[in-house]
Amino acid sequence: MKPIQINRRNFFRKFLYALVSFQFIYILFRLLKPRKQIKNVDNYFDAGEVSSFDKGKIYPFGTQRLYLHRLPDGGFMALSSRCTHLGCTIGYNTLKQSFECPCHASAFSTNGEVLSPPATRPLDFFPIAFQNNRILIDINNPQRRNKYHQSQVKYI
Ligand code: FES
Repeated sequence: MKPIQINRRNFFRKFLYALVSFQFIYILFRLLKPRKQIKNVDNYFDAGEVSSFDKGKIYPFGTQRLYLHRLPDGGFMALSSRCTHLGCTIGYNTLKQSFECPCHASAFSTNGEVLSPPATRPLDFFPIAFQNNRILIDINNPQRRNKYHQSQVKYI
């Protein structure tokens, strides 16, 4: 029986084929994997029907300590009303179109970016899910962010 001879060129070619095949299978697996489902809707806050929120407006939900921002393009952003400096409850100033903290005068943009210190990081936000044309907010899972970035805004 003749021994199998593998030269360097054949070895790299086979290695490259294996690598490309593995990547293709991995991408295919990721595409076919079912999307994450909402596990327990009972833990989400039902903010209401999507159509009941006008684009470009901010809606306060005081008991949940959050503001729901309907973005001009129709997307949603649920921002915590807890100041990231020392935790006071912020208010929305419609004239300045910014969130302001009454304790030490930090200010935040409508997307939660810091406009003026002493707060150093943006407002936390809550994940949002949609079910039967209703907005469900995961109020038990605030997302801390060190810096606001447009890619953190989820669009529907
Ligand atoms: S708690 Fe908001 S600025 Fe200090």
